[in-house]
Amino acid sequence: MSYRLDLVIIDQQPAESRFALTIHNLSDKPIFQWALHFTMGRWINHASLSHGQMEQVGSYCVLTPDHNTPLLPNGHFYTEFTIGTQPFTLLDDGIIDAFICSDGQASFITPQPVEITALGLQQPHRDRHTTPLEPTVELPIIPAPQQLKALAGHFTLDQHTAISQGPHIAAGCSRWLQAELENLLHEDVGISPEGNIHFQLREQMATGAYQLLVEQDDIWLLASSEAGFCHATASLLQMIPAGPSHLADAAYRVPMVEICDAPHFEHRGMMLDCARHFHPVKRIKFLLDQLARFKFNVFHWHLTDDEGWRIEIDAYPELTRIGAWRGPNETIVPQFTTISQRYGGYYSKQDIRDIISYAADRGIMVIPEIDIPGHCRAAIKSLPDLLIDPNDHSVYRSIQGYQDNVLSPALKGTYTFLTNVLDEVCALFPAPYVHIGADEVPKGVWADSPACQALMDEQGYKDTKELQGHLLRFVENHLTSKGKRMMGWEEATHGDKVSKYTIVFSWISEEAGLACAKAGYDVVMQPGQATYLDMAQGHSAEEAGVDWAGKLTLEQVYQYHPLSELPANDPARHHIKGIQCALWCELINSQSRFEYMIYPRLLAIAEIGWTAPEKRNWPDFSARLAGQFAYLDKVGINYRRCE
Ligand code: ACM
Repeated sequence: MSYRLDLVIIDQQPAESRFALTIHNLSDKPIFQWALHFTMGRWINHASLSHGQMEQVGSYCVLTPDHNTPLLPNGHFYTEFTIGTQPFTLLDDGIIDAFICSDGQASFITPQPVEITALGLQQPHRDRHTTPLEPTVELPIIPAPQQLKALAGHFTLDQHTAISQGPHIAAGCSRWLQAELENLLHEDVGISPEGNIHFQLREQMATGAYQLLVEQDDIWLLASSEAGFCHATASLLQMIPAGPSHLADAAYRVPMVEICDAPHFEHRGMMLDCARHFHPVKRIKFLLDQLARFKFNVFHWHLTDDEGWRIEIDAYPELTRIGAWRGPNETIVPQFTTISQRYGGYYSKQDIRDIISYAADRGIMVIPEIDIPGHCRAAIKSLPDLLIDPNDHSVYRSIQGYQDNVLSPALKGTYTFLTNVLDEVCALFPAPYVHIGADEVPKGVWADSPACQALMDEQGYKDTKELQGHLLRFVENHLTSKGKRMMGWEEATHGDKVSKYTIVFSWISEEAGLACAKAGYDVVMQPGQATYLDMAQGHSAEEAGVDWAGKLTLEQVYQYHPLSELPANDPARHHIKGIQCALWCELINSQSRFEYMIYPRLLAIAEIGWTAPEKRNWPDFSARLAGQFAYLDKVGINYRRCE
């Protein structure tokens, strides 16, 4: 490669570091009118540059030399700058992607590749974190069931196995079981009145509860609800040995067992960010297979953000024609990875219906998230005539480095846009909930907008946060009129305008969740410090991920006890609906990295959501986890190894 980029830390203080950046021209030709384009996950203090100028939008930085100085053959350009940051400890903290171009003022950019060397960190070597596990056990079911009785003998799963036609509410999970068995046996598996796997109604059982009975000649799955049948199916799938079948003709011995089981929390979710990087439908379906297997029941789908709009909206084709794509020559500038190319994608309405029905067969509800009023840059850039107030001169910067990513509560177009988008979202998703984000609206927003000031005067608002509440109350009323209940991050309560009917997802801290529950909101716990799967899984510099909420090992995740401080008889307990983990995807652009971040920590989250706290213990979990690796290997999941 003709160009090389080095970044090293030259001074490190608790809240600020100074960096030296060098771009080398390794070729025998000068490059004129050049600009270095690179991405990095922090805001660079532009005034601190020792040489050159920098422009930054989100993670995307464009550096140009003073006076257009050429980069000579075998020459280099050097500059220093500071970043207000805690010390970098991960190689992933460095430059993510880069290219150089020599297009000067030309409107079309022609990227040329740049080799990026590993970030020069100022810290001693740290070994890779390992997790000693207990020896594996028989029947290593995760999450741990309430009661499990191993019986002597086994059921033989083979080409004679068929699913017996069960009650209507077991139709979805029968299809799921059929697909899984066909995959395993490489045979058609029928659903017929004569089958030997039986779904039977037990009206008196609680919603979500189930019994699974494996006998020598029959398997019985008993429940009163669709959810219960799905969880029984999940347990049955885990009973099938994952190792190679030692029997002839792909037959498997399913150990005889009796399981009685029910969930601890009602809401057991995972949030997936599909905006920062686009995840293909196949990746999502494979994830849904695993979520269902480990008894999650909610897929929270983060569909819109500053860096991409991923849901087809008939009223505004621009949202996906423009807002779903970023690149050097696109309206939406490059971010994070793959910055030399046009990058992106979106889900058509048909894709979305397909994912919803695939999830439903597996007992998983899909909740869409349309993030408002912040995190809206992709929408704003796609629909500038509707969503930009030219008289708003407010100066702000979001935590991710955007200065133009917030909808205006004083603009008529904002309400038109939200009404049209939410109407289509409500019609598309059968879930009774819509998540509207509401996180991370930056300070300073709306402060220098005459229209916002007039709205504040008219309404008697004292604080711009009340404008956020004003907009969200409109959204809440609209969703209610469509029969939907609003969900939002904990900042949805800012400005104190939304009703207690809104469900709050607490991400900033455990304490924030507790405060919302005490204030009377129903709450889903998703504290970053315990449930964010984009956090690095150990202290070595090579560990993939970010660490703003700390390093998050498997053991730490497992030790999370939501609201353990809250007395059992505290009325706020009734407001805790459950827990979620989240995968934010700024750095996740491949199947292997996606899986490395999720597994095996997902299995620890599964147990927190499902298993009663008094039944959870690390040695027992770790032994069962050891027994799950054969399955993860079999299906080819790139999980983080514990050894
Ligand atoms: C969030 O992590 N901003 C919800």
